[in-house]
Amino acid sequence: MSGEITNNIDKLSIDKKPDFFDDDGDVVDPWTVTSKSDTGVDYDKLMKKFGSSKIDVELLTRFEKVTGKPVHHLLKRGIFFSHRDMNLILNNYEAGKPFYLYTGRGPSSSSMHLGHLIPFQLCKWLQEVFDVPLVIQLTDDEKTLWKDITIEEAHKMAYENAKDIIAIGFDIKKTFIFSDLDYIGQCPEFYRNMIRIQKCVTFNQVKGIFGFDDSSVIGKIAFPAVQATPALSTSFPAIFNGQKIQCLIPCAIDQDPYFRMTRDVCPRIGFQKPALLHSKFFPALQGAQTKMSASEANSTIFCCDTPKQLKNKINKHAFSGGQATVEDHRRIGGNCDVDIAYQYLRFFLEDDDKLEQIRKDYSSGALLTGELKKILIDVLTPIIVQHQERRSKVTDDILKQFMTPRKL
Ligand code: TYM
Repeated sequence: MSGEITNNIDKLSIDKKPDFFDDDGDVVDPWTVTSKSDTGVDYDKLMKKFGSSKIDVELLTRFEKVTGKPVHHLLKRGIFFSHRDMNLILNNYEAGKPFYLYTGRGPSSSSMHLGHLIPFQLCKWLQEVFDVPLVIQLTDDEKTLWKDITIEEAHKMAYENAKDIIAIGFDIKKTFIFSDLDYIGQCPEFYRNMIRIQKCVTFNQVKGIFGFDDSSVIGKIAFPAVQATPALSTSFPAIFNGQKIQCLIPCAIDQDPYFRMTRDVCPRIGFQKPALLHSKFFPALQGAQTKMSASEANSTIFCCDTPKQLKNKINKHAFSGGQATVEDHRRIGGNCDVDIAYQYLRFFLEDDDKLEQIRKDYSSGALLTGELKKILIDVLTPIIVQHQERRSKVTDDILKQFMTPRKL
């Protein structure tokens, strides 16, 4: 099976020490992202540790050749920086073999934030250029297990998040969004695949991968299989009619531990390993030492923030790479590598020439911190306002259509 031919090594650690702990102080796991460096996580090192491959110029050129389209700015700028088996997906696609996209969201807040939009924006672009189905898992089960929220609250937030996801602009004919709490009980094929996966992974292994210990509730220990199961196409009989199709998963690199486990198990139960595209983290307002996270309101811009809240948060909290006085700034210039307003523009300002001009002007000192923040506010305001307008048009009927298992 072609899924077994990989150009990189998956590191399924069964060591006692969880493999996300870094001796230099970077911690990257599905729940925590912290770094001691002002510029954030050392992604080259992380790639080596996780055993993934760099998205290099060669791969981007192949992307453009195969799709006939320029690559998305998130790929071109190295924000999506790492992959597993993307070459295989492109080979298969060229050979006329289909694939599907899978991504997800753990509904821990009723609104999503700007960081969450990153993998979904790439999914939308991939769905358009490859014209492929997309499944989106809402892990309301995960959130009730990990957070102090009831099943009912997590389930409700899943539906609120589904509206944010639909507002991103996915093709209703090609997208299935599901809540674990709803779907798993309705679909025997999903449950069977989950059990097949659970049968292949020991407690020792999940301890090594996720850092669980003897006091972790058993729901957490079993959960990784739930997130792995959508990578098996037969978990969606209404969509794929029992066919085995390869899966491509775009996500930030914090989710990789789940999929290292999935890739280890898949060939043992007769499935191709899913391919992955990993993004870097959209940083917190206070700086790149942590990712933007829904549990930290002051460090986060939510998709539901008003233009006034957005403006205040950026002006008050966005960490500046500028100098202490205007005179020093004009003389020495600002540091774009740590400046949050500039870093956010790299994610959301699509115009390369404008971005480069801003970088030059800020680095030389011609552009001041207040001016740079104003540029960011002017870029982000229409993005969140338009997002909210589209979200307000998501009716119960549209939601139901997206969340109904059907042929895509
Ligand atoms: P969650 O809700 O933490 O995050 C949803 C998606 O957003 C990514 N992400 C970020 N990307 C860039 N910058 C950030 N600051 C940032 N914060 C979060 C996450 O990597 C993720 O892609 N367990 C998952 C839900 C899930 C899932 C999946 C995610 C289920 N199946 C398959 C990806 C792929 C979770 O809680 O994601």
